[in-house]
Amino acid sequence: MCGIVCYVGRKEVKPILLEGLKRLEYRGYDSAGLAIQDGNRIELHRAVGKIAELEKEVNDVNIRGTMGIAHTRWATHGEPTEENAHPQRDQDENTFVIHNGIIENYLSLKRMMERQGITFRSETDTEILAQLIGLNFDGSLHEAVRKSLSQVEGTFGVAVIHKSTPHEIVVARRGSPLIIGVSDHGHFVGSDIAAMVTYTNKVVHLRDNEMARLTVDDFSISTAQAKPIERSLETVEWRAEEAELNGFPHFMLKEIYEQPETIKNAIRGRLEPSEGVPKLGGIEPVWEKLKECRHMVIVACGTSYYAGCVGMYIFEKLTEIDVEVELASEFRYRKLNFPRNTFVVAMSQSGETADTLAAIKEARRKGASLLGIVNVVGSSITRETDAGIYNHAGPEIGVASTKIFTSQVTILTLLAVLLGRHQKLSLTEGVEIIRALQALPNQVKKVLSQSNHIQAIAEKYYGCGNWLFLGRKYNYPLAMEGALKLKEISYIHAEGYAAGEMKHGPIALINPKMPTVAVVPKDDMYEKMISNIHEIKARKGPVIAIATQGDDKIKAMVDEMVEIPPTFDFLNPILAGVSCQLLAYYCASFLGREIDKPRNLAKSVTVE
Ligand code: G6P
Repeated sequence: MCGIVCYVGRKEVKPILLEGLKRLEYRGYDSAGLAIQDGNRIELHRAVGKIAELEKEVNDVNIRGTMGIAHTRWATHGEPTEENAHPQRDQDENTFVIHNGIIENYLSLKRMMERQGITFRSETDTEILAQLIGLNFDGSLHEAVRKSLSQVEGTFGVAVIHKSTPHEIVVARRGSPLIIGVSDHGHFVGSDIAAMVTYTNKVVHLRDNEMARLTVDDFSISTAQAKPIERSLETVEWRAEEAELNGFPHFMLKEIYEQPETIKNAIRGRLEPSEGVPKLGGIEPVWEKLKECRHMVIVACGTSYYAGCVGMYIFEKLTEIDVEVELASEFRYRKLNFPRNTFVVAMSQSGETADTLAAIKEARRKGASLLGIVNVVGSSITRETDAGIYNHAGPEIGVASTKIFTSQVTILTLLAVLLGRHQKLSLTEGVEIIRALQALPNQVKKVLSQSNHIQAIAEKYYGCGNWLFLGRKYNYPLAMEGALKLKEISYIHAEGYAAGEMKHGPIALINPKMPTVAVVPKDDMYEKMISNIHEIKARKGPVIAIATQGDDKIKAMVDEMVEIPPTFDFLNPILAGVSCQLLAYYCASFLGREIDKPRNLAKSVTVE
């Protein structure tokens, strides 16, 4: 996710910004840049790739100055190029802006400014902010930023400087975190503590819809309506490496906890609640064809594959499209029929998985249209497909995928509702599903609030060497994903099975030392799952149920229960998925495993 570091003070700013950018590297980025006020000039430098590239460039020029803003960019709008990197500037090169978040109405604002004769240099939504603030500037930077942000829909953490207001940084927050740091030689702004941890541990957290103005000796906070706010300093006790993890012991746990936000990001700006229909700008180039599609093949690997399998059931429920899911590594060995107007959907966090890339090349040869559902903007899969949808989930650093799984299922649901509304879903059904999607982030928070309880369950069972995960229908792929999570990071042997298949083999393994995780929400598979639970209990196997909140019947039957809030049947895998992630995480943690980098595994597998 993008990172922000700014400084205004008495020390030379260049090394401070470079140090801050390096501290933000852990967030993942594809380009970086800085703008430094040097006398009455503002020096702008940007580079694609590592901070070292930017460092090389700025070390070659003599920039002095004690105020500047800097940014690491994780591309969302437009590929990772120098022109798309931040800071972005206005037409006259007076206003310089760095920005985290997404401006949803950027296209309409862009059109409006183009009509006023403004020309744009980049493909970013951030440039819209720079141009808008430039247009609104009338002597007061604070006022220009305030006025401009009132015209903006979306999320932001922004920092702005202007040529004619030296020694002043204006920042504002809606949705994307910003922290002000206070030291005896000046003031800092960061997207997190890591950006400033080397220089200060005295901070003030900016809250949503607040702005601040920082100078060398002072800072002031106000509401978006310019009402002053008093807030006292906090002291943070984190060391630098703890700051990157935002206080979490591992990236995996941090990413599990990011899910309310990443699900929000997956649906942000993509819902028309009153029409009961999502809008997905990225698929516009193929929309006419896609609307008529009746056959789809999802290709993916690992966790993305299991998300695809959940998606298959969702498409079956909501659309008239026949969906197959194929492991990308097996795709080329199949002789699949591609009826006219088949869409192949490549789903991948990294967008670089070699097997998935090979599968889409093969699909292209067979004449299929290609869609991508990808997290990394500008990655290979995005270039090889005809159109696509981004996850906007920020970088995933833990090797075991967590937040991307739930984001992928969310996006597949959006796509299914969109197509379903053109086929068989009524307005009321569309509206209800959209409401359920909007409720998901808070429901995920409820699952996360059981973290201590799940940790206690893990403590009881982590010593068991073999586990079984069972589910039916939507929760069958989730059972496989739950088992994958556990084996990836704890090295415990686990199998995910369709519960109906238990009697054809796995039941032979059940004994008091083999826990079964049974995914048994109140859905149309409920009674059948209960029969499975009875079969396990009859053989003295411990059962950990993931069941609907308040289900006392299940509670009385099983050894442990994790509760998930009620939702549509097909969204249960998202809530159950979070429960399985926490269970796997805590088992691995009790076993002292290297959770973020499990042995033998890679985050992005670029070999076939
Ligand atoms: C690797 C990772 C998994 C991931 C899989 C697919 O095996 O360890 O976490 O699910 O690749 O990656 P992709 O980037 O294509 O989603």
